[in-house]
Amino acid sequence: MRIDVLTLFPEFCPGALGASILGLARERGLVDFRLVNIRDFARDRHKVCDDTPYGGGPGMVMKPEPLAAAIDSARRPQSTVVLLSPQGEPFSQATAEEFSRAGQLVLVCGRYKGVDERVRLMADREVSVGDYVLPGGEAAAVVIVEAVARLLPGAVGHEDSVATDSFSTGILDAPYYTRPREFRGLAVPEVLVSGDHASVARWRREQALKTTAQRRPELLRGEVLSETEREFLCRELGKEIVNG
Ligand SMILES: C[S@@+](CC[C@H](N)C(=O)[O-])C[C@H]1O[C@@H](n2cnc3c(N)ncnc32)[C@H](O)[C@@H]1O
Repeated sequence: MRIDVLTLFPEFCPGALGASILGLARERGLVDFRLVNIRDFARDRHKVCDDTPYGGGPGMVMKPEPLAAAIDSARRPQSTVVLLSPQGEPFSQATAEEFSRAGQLVLVCGRYKGVDERVRLMADREVSVGDYVLPGGEAAAVVIVEAVARLLPGAVGHEDSVATDSFSTGILDAPYYTRPREFRGLAVPEVLVSGDHASVARWRREQALKTTAQRRPELLRGEVLSETEREFLCRELGKEIVNG
């Protein structure tokens, strides 16, 4: 897969994007990653990429010409052009999975008051990483690249580990423990050291359901619960779980 990040601040990204899973994915040839400096597409002597807004008011707006030229140069027939914006659709695991199947992602980072509205219309998708405003789209692009890269086949050592993560299964993940068996007076649950794989699997499923019911009950809505699981949740939470 190819990922192009279009930004006015390419120096923001390389550290984050060269490390960890994306670094590995690049080394393994799974991702062809490019940082594109939007300023390189400005035609004037001073490489100006922003201007005052029509109608007045505070802040600057990213000019359409350099941005459109940068998008045109990156876009391929199989590309998904994504504008990072606090007004976009919320980024989720489902979006990450969808993006991981795209041939190419072109991530467009805004700055200042944002991009000229006519450039917004050039994007295939507009995506937000949360209900807060960042000074620029670069941190949002890093979030998306990290979430997408780890889903590429071969990017992580244990692909089943990704499959059991929160949201991938539709609910939150189970709690995990590692050595030592006792830490600050807290012991690892007996079942996890029992060697009984079926019991461990049942315990993890129950704990994942319990955590989800406590923290994100809306995620249980589409979950099929067995009678035993329903009884377990009722016992643990002291109330009947109504879902589906
Ligand atoms: C200061 S923001 C502009 C905010 C815009 N005036 C608004 O209120 O909707 C500058 C740029 O940061 C990026 N950005 C800010 N918050 C974001 C978020 N939650 N998700 C994705 N991108 C974001 C966008 O690229 C945006 O164009």
